[in-house]
Amino acid sequence: MRHLLSTADLAKDDAILLLDTAAQMAATQAREMKKLPTLRGRTVVNLFYEDSTRTRISFETAAKRLSADVINFSAKGSSVSKGESLKDTALTLHAMGADAVVVRHQASGAPHMLAHAGWLDAAVLNAGDGMHQHPTQALLDAFTIRRHLVGGGSDAGTEGTDLAGLRVAIVGDVLHSRVARSNVRLLHTLGARVTLVAPPTLLPVGVETWPCEVSYHLDETIERAKPDAVMMLRVQRERMSGGAGGAFFPSAQEYSRKFGLGSRRLARLPGHAIVMHPGPMNRGLEISADAADHARSVIVEQVANGIAVRMAALYLLLAGNDAGAGSVPNERTSL
Ligand code: NCD
Repeated sequence: MRHLLSTADLAKDDAILLLDTAAQMAATQAREMKKLPTLRGRTVVNLFYEDSTRTRISFETAAKRLSADVINFSAKGSSVSKGESLKDTALTLHAMGADAVVVRHQASGAPHMLAHAGWLDAAVLNAGDGMHQHPTQALLDAFTIRRHLVGGGSDAGTEGTDLAGLRVAIVGDVLHSRVARSNVRLLHTLGARVTLVAPPTLLPVGVETWPCEVSYHLDETIERAKPDAVMMLRVQRERMSGGAGGAFFPSAQEYSRKFGLGSRRLARLPGHAIVMHPGPMNRGLEISADAADHARSVIVEQVANGIAVRMAALYLLLAGNDAGAGSVPNERTSL
C-alpha cells in the first residue's frame, strides 16, 4: 500500500492490519512517554483546503507522536487564495521534500490526483474529499466498534478479528456524507451488516447498488435490525443549496422527530449498543444532548482512537516497508 485514498481500495487483510497496528499504537499512547522515534527525519504536510477541527489536529498529533516534522498548510492565508493551482502547490511541497501529504479538499478526487498525477513523490492520505471518501474516519469508527463490541471495551483479544455478525445503522444525511460512503465499504469488507437510515431526499441515486440495506424509518430499523452500533451523521447544511436544509426536509423539528436520536429511541436500542457520531454535532438536530452525553455514547473515544488509527496509517505507509509491516517499535527495540 502506497497511499490511503479510499476504503474501497482496502482488502480485508489490509483493513485488519491497519486496525491491529492501531491497537498497538493505542497501547503506546497509554504510556507516560507517548512519543515514538519511528518517523524521525520524515516530513508530513497537512494540506487542508476545507475547514476541520478533529481531523487536522488528529493527523498533526499522530505525526508528532511518531516524531515526524509536521507542516500545517491551510488554504486560507496561503497562495491558494491568490489562485494557485493544486499542481503548483504540489510541486512546491515536492520541492520541500514532503514524505507524506495529508489532504482535505472540497473536490472529490483531489487526493487521487495528487497521488497519481506525478507531481509529488509522497504518500498521500485522504483526509476527506468532497462527498466522496474519508478513509481514516471509517477506520477509526471500525476500530471503536471492534474495541467495544468484540473486545468488551479494550483491544485484548481483538487482534486479527473482523466485525462479522455485527449490525450497524448509519443514520441521517447520507447524501452529503463521505463518512457514510467510507463506512459502508469498510464495514462491509469487515463482515458487518450495515443499514442506512434516511429520508429518500437524503439518499444518493444508486444507493441500491451499495453493499448495505436501506430504510426510511429509524424506529422500524431499531425494532427489526436491533443494531449493535448506531452512527448518527451530521446534517451538512453547508452542502445544501440555500444553506438551511429546507429543500431536503420540511423542518428541523420534523427531521429530529423522524431521524434524530434522543432518550426515547436510545432506551429501545439493545442494552449493549453504542452511539457514535463523527463530529461536529448539531446537538438538538440529529442527536439530542442527552444522547450525545449518555454513557452509551463513544463519541469522545472516537476522537481519541483517531490518533492511534492515523499513527498506524502513517507508520504503515512511511515506515512499514523498512520496519516490517505490523511490528510497532516498543521500548526494548527502539526507545
Ligand atoms: C466529518 C467530515 O468532515 O467529513 N467530520 C470529521 O471528519 N470528523 C463529518 C462532518 O463534517 O459531518
